[in-house]
Amino acid sequence: MKPVSVVRILGIETSCDETSVALMEWPSDAETPSLLTHEIASQIEQHRPYGGVVPELATRQHMKHLDGMVGRTLSAQGWQTEDLTCVAVTMGPGLASSLMVGTAYARGLALAAGLPVAGIHHMEGHLLSVFLGSGCAPQYPHLALVISGGHTLLVAVLEPWQYQILGKTRDDAVGEAYDKVAKLLGLSYPGGPEVERRGRDGDPRRFIFPRSMLHSGDDAFSFSGLKTAVRYELEKWPPPWNDQLIADICAGFQSAVVDILVGKCLRVLQRTHLPLLTVSGGVAANQSLISALDKASADMGVRVLSAPRQYSTDNAAMIAHAAAWRHRDGVLDVGPSDVMPVWPLDALNRLEPD
Ligand code: KG4
Ligand code: ZN
Repeated sequence: MKPVSVVRILGIETSCDETSVALMEWPSDAETPSLLTHEIASQIEQHRPYGGVVPELATRQHMKHLDGMVGRTLSAQGWQTEDLTCVAVTMGPGLASSLMVGTAYARGLALAAGLPVAGIHHMEGHLLSVFLGSGCAPQYPHLALVISGGHTLLVAVLEPWQYQILGKTRDDAVGEAYDKVAKLLGLSYPGGPEVERRGRDGDPRRFIFPRSMLHSGDDAFSFSGLKTAVRYELEKWPPPWNDQLIADICAGFQSAVVDILVGKCLRVLQRTHLPLLTVSGGVAANQSLISALDKASADMGVRVLSAPRQYSTDNAAMIAHAAAWRHRDGVLDVGPSDVMPVWPLDALNRLEPD
């Protein structure tokens, strides 16, 4: 009998404003990898007074927390760096200065212990996060809707590690639109959860905002017109705004976002007959959106898998998880050697297996 070997991966994520570290273990006799520990140091409180992420502040916070988090995480398992198989780190896309902290740290750690560094694509981490903790291997083919603060992507994933980008945003990402609308309304950062919460008490029919590009005939998105429509509507109402007005604006905005995202996904599903829709990225934490996608897809016999709430916003578990599956498939050595603040997901297609 073949002896059981174990793959142990340290994941590091510092692409924006969350410092996160995770440890994943995969014995060769297990079907899927197991997440052993996972820590996130959120910087929300530091950035909140500025209403958005301040890159220099983010860099300083990553530098302050990362080393301690890695040390704690390893010692919680009783592991040394030498016990690891590799260090997986987000190489991009993201804020250059934030990415540099994680990647420089990962390189130093790996060099000292003689380990390889796996440079992971942040959006691939999000995309595969729907399978994290599910006890299942990633399933193919599927249509992936990846919606975060920086990206809005519709991707056909017909086979592992090959991404066909069908549509992306021409301007603002969905999460960015949420954050900007929240800012217009004077709601706290990050805007997505706050707009969702306030919208629950609102009437989505009081303000009808444009469903931009819903019938554009392609799979592209645009959210900046929607945000501007909210601004124009607010200009008609002299502040201070009462809670009901804020709730109705949030509900109206959210209803437009949901219609656009659902409409675009259905269009692709009807055309491609893909049997599974995955939804990941920070905006996948939005319950109204997931319920609407569930309902619309069920009518077509399509299954929807969304990222578990704790893995929808930025985290290192998804980075270690993507690295674990890449390692299993022998395609781990794909990362560029330097940070990639801009890095299209389909650039990964061209990379050859080791
Ligand atoms: O994936 P993520 O953590 O970071 C990026 O890679 O950008 O996504 C953050 C985005 C923010 O724009 C945040 O407002 C949005 O996800 N978000 C939400 C919700 N929770 C987070 N948007 C809508 N509804 C939510 N519940
Ligand atoms: Zn993200």
